[in-house]
Amino acid sequence: MTQRNPQLNARGELLHLLTTEGLPREMLTHILDTATQFVSVSDREVKKVPLLRGKSVFNLFFENSTRTRTTFDIAATRLSADVYTLDIARSSTVKGESLLDTVANLSAMAADIFVVRHSESGAPYLLAQHVAPHVHVVNAGDGRHAHPTQGLLDMYTIRHYKKDIRGLTVAIVGDVLHSRVARSDIHALTTLGAGQVRVVGPRTLAPGDLAPMGVRVCHTLEEGIRDADVIIMLRLQNERMSGALLPSSQEFFKSFGLTPEKLRLARPDAIVMHPGPINRGVEIDSQVADGGQSVILPQVTFGIAVRMAVLSILAGSEA
Ligand code: CP
Repeated sequence: MTQRNPQLNARGELLHLLTTEGLPREMLTHILDTATQFVSVSDREVKKVPLLRGKSVFNLFFENSTRTRTTFDIAATRLSADVYTLDIARSSTVKGESLLDTVANLSAMAADIFVVRHSESGAPYLLAQHVAPHVHVVNAGDGRHAHPTQGLLDMYTIRHYKKDIRGLTVAIVGDVLHSRVARSDIHALTTLGAGQVRVVGPRTLAPGDLAPMGVRVCHTLEEGIRDADVIIMLRLQNERMSGALLPSSQEFFKSFGLTPEKLRLARPDAIVMHPGPINRGVEIDSQVADGGQSVILPQVTFGIAVRMAVLSILAGSEA
């Protein structure tokens, strides 16, 4: 018997967004198409639509965030939801309250959607299993496991600049091992028919055992980005590294840092992406980060429309 995807209800509608893995192509496309409709809302004088009026969205960020937290806040506000962002450092988590008890108490305040970032892989799954049937959970990044809305906004960005993801060569460069973004991107790219997905980095950060995910593993930047259409740079996630996996960040930059010279190996119309935060001079040269092929800041802007799409689709589904 095949197991039903826990993110989808019996009608195949999105009930929670926990990972891009296993999401059908039609659902990914539906989210991206819905986001396209929301892009124009941000250009209006009154940047609001009433789709989530009366709904309560709780942002629970147990890990630091600039982009994801702020754009979820903006997205929910533009949909006219009531938005509550828990100040974790001043919450009763500090007194030892468990995640499930915190969420049970916030649910008693009539929450409709929880947006959760947590350092523990699987935390949003746990919540999704325990919330009431009408409540939705969005994974805003769990450990090194998944960051589905980043994956979706990356797909939106690629589709915006390249028109079609099918057939593209996409290189994901850097600390792939600890990257939830890389995993979410790889699942979405393969489902959407990218021609070749390459993961690029030293053996310690881009191990060969990633190959079963359907990617080509490259251990030199030159091989990895040659003739690529899209380059996604990743930062070194030191907070998730145990032990020294690199000689130094200077050595890493020499071998895997994206400079204007190295970028010339990719296709002339290649775009350069990065989920942020960027570390200039570690994985990316400032001239590339701020250059004409960089779409790093548009990624952030598209994140608002993509998160509006996710929240509005969830609010329209029932268990
Ligand atoms: N891309 C991303 O997740 O950035 P933040 O950690 O700032 O949210």
